[in-house]
Amino acid sequence: MSENKLITILGIESSCDETSASVVVGGRDVLSCVVASQDEFHAKFRGVVPEIASRAHLEKINLVVTQALEEAGVSMDQVDAIAAVNTPGLVGCLLIGFTAAKTYAWTLGKPLIAIHHVQAHAYGAVLNHCGQAFPGVAFLVSGGHTSLYRCENPLEMETVGCTQDDAAGEAFDKVASILDLPFPGGPAIDKLARTGNPKACRFPRTWLGKESLDFSFSGLKTAVLYHVRGKDLSRPDSSHLTEQEKADVAASFQAAVVEVLVEKAVLACRKFGMDKLLVGGGVAANSYFRGQLADRTAQEQIELILAKPKLCTDNAAMVAGLAWHKFVAGRFADWNENVISTT
Ligand code: KG4
Ligand code: ZN
Repeated sequence: MSENKLITILGIESSCDETSASVVVGGRDVLSCVVASQDEFHAKFRGVVPEIASRAHLEKINLVVTQALEEAGVSMDQVDAIAAVNTPGLVGCLLIGFTAAKTYAWTLGKPLIAIHHVQAHAYGAVLNHCGQAFPGVAFLVSGGHTSLYRCENPLEMETVGCTQDDAAGEAFDKVASILDLPFPGGPAIDKLARTGNPKACRFPRTWLGKESLDFSFSGLKTAVLYHVRGKDLSRPDSSHLTEQEKADVAASFQAAVVEVLVEKAVLACRKFGMDKLLVGGGVAANSYFRGQLADRTAQEQIELILAKPKLCTDNAAMVAGLAWHKFVAGRFADWNENVISTT
């Protein structure tokens, strides 16, 4: 086991619009994590354009890998295995990272490890955390997922709740677009909401029943749309609002999303008698969400294991960290392993 603590893994992430490579030792010690963001290419479309994303990954992948090794002070020879996300994600994007990993592994004679993007996000919270993190409830709140998992260990995740329509991050992005804020919408709302009143607009909270661990945000998104554009959508945009009114809408929307997220996460811990809550995914970078989570889990005596803000959004450190557990369990991919867009 002590030898395993020195196992060094190069991880690659390319499932959506970040090209990332990272070197992690022993599943926790992040030596480097390089992320090349594509925000500037997708901003004018207010969303990720798959073809543009694949091309940008192709241009960046080798540079990002080289930089990650350099920053870690590790040569390719010293790496014990190469891991990459192969599902879920945009198929062209996954292909770039996974094919690069296969090529490095094949040519250098290293084992290849295939990683599930969602499992990796949950693991993002464990990186650099001292002490036991499992068993626990994992909560992934991102642009594609709002899901709760019961986890006995990092490789066994049972889904116990998920969104019925939009993911929380998607709602942030769409509300940002209604408010004519820049892409990506989540960070823009986070910033604007700091100057707004979270009680200014009474937006709905969707609970789907007292015991439900599922989520729904489409009604909230529509409520914000009607509030800003009028019930008959007669206003073309948000330009009639003052900056303060915009901030109030952002803060009230954020408060509605966060209240539901926090209460359901606490409910999941109580339901399964678990006292550890692991939280990751892009929305977990939200400053208001982090504060509310800290307060509620402290009240409920739940240990909050929250990914660092930089490791909430897509990154390869979570990939290389989780891959260590697969390495120790001997769960390697064979050369026929392929990418799968949805799982
Ligand atoms: O985990 P992630 O990088 O990619 C997916 O796997 O989806 O999450 C991206 C999502 C986007 O919807 C983005 O707007 C949201 O996370 N996000 C935030 C914040 N930072 C990123 N949402 C709210 N507040 C933030 N600070
Ligand atoms: Zn993600």
